[in-house]
Amino acid sequence: MSAPLLEVSDLNAWYGQAQALHGVSLKVNEGECVALIGRNGAGKTTTLRSIMGVLRKKTGSIKLRGEDITRLDSHQIARKGLAYVPEERAIFATLTVKENLELPPVWNAKGWSSRKCTEAFPALEARAEHSGAKLSGGEQQMLAIARVLRAGPTLLLLDEPSEGLAPVVVQQIQKILRGLKAEGMAMLLVEQNLHFALSLADRHTLLVDGEVKETLTTAEVRARNRELLDHLSV
Ligand SMILES: Nc1ncnc2c1ncn2[C@@H]1O[C@H](COP(=O)(O)OP(=O)(O)OP(=O)(O)O)[C@@H](O)[C@H]1O
Ligand SMILES: [Mg+2]
Repeated sequence: MSAPLLEVSDLNAWYGQAQALHGVSLKVNEGECVALIGRNGAGKTTTLRSIMGVLRKKTGSIKLRGEDITRLDSHQIARKGLAYVPEERAIFATLTVKENLELPPVWNAKGWSSRKCTEAFPALEARAEHSGAKLSGGEQQMLAIARVLRAGPTLLLLDEPSEGLAPVVVQQIQKILRGLKAEGMAMLLVEQNLHFALSLADRHTLLVDGEVKETLTTAEVRARNRELLDHLSV
């Protein structure tokens, strides 16, 4: 069998002296969506930041299709096909939507043209000349996702894409991500919104206090919906 797309093994990570991750292991196969769930402070964002090379104080191994990328910097990791959409939606507030879309480099044939981005996100087309700062939360999230697609990634790391958005906007984002998944995009999706995670993910990894507690199938999450919702909401 070929190596998984992403394989994280025994990952430990620190902020100064404080250890935030304790032996986290997880896998994402080609075209698969894995949801990382867990309550506030569980280590979800830290996991994404460690994989992406943003957080450097770590041990363990991170492999992409069997190649060790643990010690690469975030720029090199991005080049290898990982794209990170952080919680704070990294867009340029002072640039227009059009400029935000034109800026990121296209590194391979899978990279989206800025035209393809606006076609996939019609809300952005209408806002092309508006500055990033003037966009609604949902539009900012769409722009943040569209921007990383320019690079032609194979794996998206998404940190709470539905957070703080109105239900109708959450549905739009969901539809876009489902479309990407149908085209074969793999995702590691951090979500506290279990319904959102259920609509996209093939498997769900539950983090508790910086450790992987268990990995569940979608059917298992549905069966234990109440218990998990109670856990996540505390
Ligand atoms: N910059 C930082 N400096 C020090 N400690 C941090 C920092 N960022 C996170 N932590 C700590 O690391 C642990 C994991 O935090 P992390 O942000 O990864 O959790 P999370 O699961 O993403 O939570 P949330 O749902 O609130 O986003 C927490 O105890 C948090 O307080
Ligand atoms: Mg977080």
